[in-house]
Amino acid sequence: MLPTLTKPIACWQQEYNTGNSQVDEQHQQLFEIVNAIHDAVVTKKNSYTMQELLEALSNHTIEHFQTEEALMMAVDYPEYDIHKRTHDCLLSKVDRLLLKFRDRNTAAVTTEITQFLTEWLAHHIKGEDKKMIQFFQNQ
Ligand SMILES: [Fe+2]
Repeated sequence: MLPTLTKPIACWQQEYNTGNSQVDEQHQQLFEIVNAIHDAVVTKKNSYTMQELLEALSNHTIEHFQTEEALMMAVDYPEYDIHKRTHDCLLSKVDRLLLKFRDRNTAAVTTEITQFLTEWLAHHIKGEDKKMIQFFQNQ
């Protein structure tokens, strides 16, 4: 989907599979976008490309969190509030990044950011998301 030349920073691992194919596919798309952003930072792609990638990150993150939140609401998931707060926290970080970038601060996107996004996703998937899907499966 998104061609990258640089060694990917976000590598999909078996342990990230939650057992819900829609959630897993969306997670993998987010990994691809993070890798494309990482590649754009390392190879110093133009700001138009970077802006498009950041917008893709923002849109896919919103769509993905909405998917998970709808699934949680459908079963009255007891940890909905805390899970949603974690989502909102990342969304505001992504929003701030996009705003900073649009504000002509093209240096706002760094490998520290792509590292942070990778670690955030891995940690969130292995923790909150797997716990959530496990709850659905035990319903
Ligand atoms: Fe989540």
